[in-house]
Formats: sequence, structure tokens, C-alpha cells
Amino acid sequence: MKKILVTGGLGFIGSHTVVELQNEGFEVVIIDNLSNTSIDVLDKITEITGTKPAFHKVDVRVKSDIKSVFDTHKIDGIIHFAAFKAVGESMNKPLDYYENNLSSLIYLLQEMRDRKLDNFIFSSSCTVYGQANALPITEDAPVKAAESVYGNTKQIGEEIIRDTSNTYKINSIALRYFNPMGAHPSIKIGELPIGVPQNLIPFVTQTAAGIRKELSVFGDDYPTKDGTAVRDYIHVVDLAKAHIAALRRLINKKNKKSFEYFNIGTGKGSSVLEIINAFEKVNNLKLNYKIVGRREGDITAAFADTTIANKELNWKTEIGLEEALESAWKWQQKQSV
Ligand code: UD1
Repeated sequence: MKKILVTGGLGFIGSHTVVELQNEGFEVVIIDNLSNTSIDVLDKITEITGTKPAFHKVDVRVKSDIKSVFDTHKIDGIIHFAAFKAVGESMNKPLDYYENNLSSLIYLLQEMRDRKLDNFIFSSSCTVYGQANALPITEDAPVKAAESVYGNTKQIGEEIIRDTSNTYKINSIALRYFNPMGAHPSIKIGELPIGVPQNLIPFVTQTAAGIRKELSVFGDDYPTKDGTAVRDYIHVVDLAKAHIAALRRLINKKNKKSFEYFNIGTGKGSSVLEIINAFEKVNNLKLNYKIVGRREGDITAAFADTTIANKELNWKTEIGLEEALESAWKWQQKQSV
């Protein structure tokens, strides 16, 4: 049985990926410092899969702690999620973001080099494309100058991995996520935003739950079908499964280059108003919202061309927008009680 180290394995995308890994027969070792999640998630993963993954409360910035995890476990592959991810905060705390997101990556790759380990998956973001010149966005679209420190950590992270992979013969894949959303069908794990959510879907569900008075729709003067900005919302379970597909590609030596990157989205763009309408319809409720000005740094539209990911990873999305919005609402209701 292959043993996979998952950093940030109790976070939103990490926890869903751990469930899929265990469902697929992988043995999982989680490291997480619990800075943006709760230890309860470990029990929920165990309830869903019937297997308790190994867990170490480790901060990826502490090199000696990372080392000791590798001393304890013989690792066959790494999926690296642990990172700070708030765009706004990253502009106020650039050094914290660069330190956390990049030193952790370097320490992990150093361990891989020193122990001659292989198979590394990195959580990257479609933010590397900025506002792409053409839609849908293919992997050939140029990486644009980052708009935020957070975005820059993803770009620099990919560069570090690319250079390391070539030199030390570490095969690796960066998955460029579009907009993850939804919750596991068991409604035992989901997104746990701390404080006021910055992302659309948790703000929508918290507004519906009465935690937030009103949703602000940031701009209705974009050159899109209804004037609101367009994104590619992908269910977190579909996204989690892309990691298993990428891992299999590496383990089975099917990769074409030592460093590869793929767009992980649905291929379908939805506007903010479309999301609101679909959320209201599928959950049979009314959402309190108003149109306000654009949010600084936002782009007009982004959605993925998934042709290459579908073919090369032998993966495709299976869960529709309605089901995803339904699961997001069920998860929210569970938090409010
Ligand atoms: C944001 C980040 C992106 C990151 C991703 C992680 C920015 C500029 N980009 O993407 O780098 O990878 O989160 O999930 O922050 N919206 C509203 N009202 C709200 C919240 C959002 O109208 O209260 C709109 C936004 O203007 C945007 C869309 O909803 O058009 C999606 O926003 P969000 O969920 O924050 O994701 P992104 O901005 O696409």
C-alpha cells in the first residue's frame, strides 16, 4: 500500500482529498498545524472512510519537525496543501505569506532530495493566469505578473518545483484550481472560513443562514452576459479526485515531463448572479443581496479549458453546479445548529 503525506490534510481541500485517497486504498499521513481548521475534522474523515489516518500536528515552517515525520514514515508521495490563502491578508503580511508558503515548500523538497523520494503534487491556482487574453483558459496561456502576494507565492512555488524537479529527478504536478466549493455528500466535512468570508460561496451560505445581513455583489458593469464577473466553480470532491488522478499518473510513470501543470475546473463559467439564482432555486430560498462597486484586483472572467487535464489525467468533473450549491447550503445549516 502506497503511503501518501498530505500537508494541510485537515483543511477544506486537504480533508476531501484524504477521504478520496483512503477510498482508493492509499495509506495517509496528515500533517497540519490546525491554524485554519479543527482537529474534529480528523474524526469526521475517520467516520466517512472507516480508517483513521496517521496525524502529526506539525507546522511546515519547522524544518526539524518535518524531518522527523519523514524519519517516522516511509513516504511514497506528497500532496502539499498547507499554505496561507487569503488574498487581502497577503498584501498586509507579505513576509508571513512568503515565509509560510515558500519555506515549507523548500523544506519538503529538500527532504525529497535527501531521501530520494518521488511524486509531488502542489496546489496551485488559476490566479497565475490573471485576466487571461482568451477564454476558456488553456495551460498555454501565459502566466501574468501576480496581482497579490498570495498569487505570487503560487507562481514562485511552481518555479521552485519546476527547477527542483529537473535537477533532482523529482516528478511533480501542479494543479491550477479554479474556484472550489461545496461539501462532502456526507455533510461531515466542508469549508470552515474563519471570520468574515472573502469568497463568494461561503458569503452566500452565511447570508442565507442570517449570519451576514446582505451579500454584496461586486460589480455589475463587467463585459459579461449579465454584467457580473464570471468564474469556474468546481465541487471540492471533483477537485479532490483530480489529486488522485495526478498521483496515479506520477506513480505509474505516465508523466511526460518531470514538472507538469494542469487546469482543474469544470470548463463552465458562471456569473455571480447566476450563482445567486441557482442557489435560490435549488435550495428554495431568497437571498438578500445588493449590487455594489467592483472589488479591487478582481478580474472579469476566468474558466478553464479542461481538455488537457481530462485527457492526460483521465479525470473529469462529475458533480453539477446545483448539487454543489445544495451541498454547500446543507453544510452551512449544519454549522448554524
Ligand atoms: C479568489 C482569489 C484567488 C484565489 C481564490 C481561492 C481574489 C482576487 N482572488 O478568487 O486568487 O485563488 O479566491 O478560492 O481574491 N464576490 C462577490 N461578493 C462577495 C464575494 C465575492 O460578488 O462577497 C464575487 C467576486 O467579485 C468574484 C466572484 O464572486 O467575481 C468569486 O469571488 P471569490 O470567491 O472571492 O473568488 P475569486 O476572486 O475568483
